[in-house]
Amino acid sequence: MRTVTTLAELRAARSRLAGPVGFVPTMGYLHAGHISLAQRAHTDCASVVASIFVNPTQFGPNEDLAKYPRDLPRDLALLEAAGVELVWTPTQEEMYQPGFQTWVSVEALTRRLEGEARPTHFRGVTTVVAKLFNAVWPDKAYFGQKDAQQAAVIRQLVKDLNFPVKIEVCPIVREVDGLAMSSRNVYLTSQERQAATVLFRSLSAAKLAYDSGERQAESLRARVRATIASEPLARLQYISCADYDTLEELETVSRKALLSMAVYFGKTRLIDNFVIG
Ligand code: PAJ
Repeated sequence: MRTVTTLAELRAARSRLAGPVGFVPTMGYLHAGHISLAQRAHTDCASVVASIFVNPTQFGPNEDLAKYPRDLPRDLALLEAAGVELVWTPTQEEMYQPGFQTWVSVEALTRRLEGEARPTHFRGVTTVVAKLFNAVWPDKAYFGQKDAQQAAVIRQLVKDLNFPVKIEVCPIVREVDGLAMSSRNVYLTSQERQAATVLFRSLSAAKLAYDSGERQAESLRARVRATIASEPLARLQYISCADYDTLEELETVSRKALLSMAVYFGKTRLIDNFVIG
């Protein structure tokens, strides 16, 4: 496995890789969720490229950019074990040169849910992903269902701007107690970590209701709210039951839908979702 920093090195190394090339963009501090994407890419593609870049433009002014966890040596060992050929670790200066002023933004889809709570977040994500795609030029790129709206936004970006990249969305990897793996889980105190299992429990309660025939979106949201309310350390920011593709809120679940939520535990904000229907 080779690790490169500059765009020129990346392009030179990329041109020597056998195709098809799979790409796994990350912000590092990798866990089994990220690694599942690299493994899937390794199964599908002749070569796999990963990037590690904590992208400043997707963090809001009050978010955790400075304290975002980092562990490059560990990340590189995990990527190598997963069969990755090439890792790109660009610097902030290389990614955003002085005078940078071009943004890529997806519109309606980014105004809801995470976009409503974090108004500049997706513009940062789509801009950096467009830059990463232009640099790596992958045949396929792998994203996690964990960030369901991000995956929908990237699909829209690729379609609208004709990127010749196939987007693969991989299932959420969870801890044994159901908590979705996330780099942000390290911020939880042990009590909050215990309480955080309420996300999976609340989505499971709604799924059980759906499986028993409940089709009213509001009743499914209400199941989630009630379960979250039973956990004193949890503060629900939003619960959504929306169309899987457009993310518009539903009245009745008659097609593929996304049940998604954001919940605070102290200062830590966690997201989770289930796909139903
Ligand atoms: P990051 O949070 O590092 O996540 C990288 C990829 O791992 C994303 O596609 C995310 O959905 C996936 N992932 C995270 N936790 C997962 C889990 N428990 N199971 C399965 N997949 C999981 O998402 C980003 O970085 C950034 O926004 C990025 C796309 C790299 C752009 O900066």
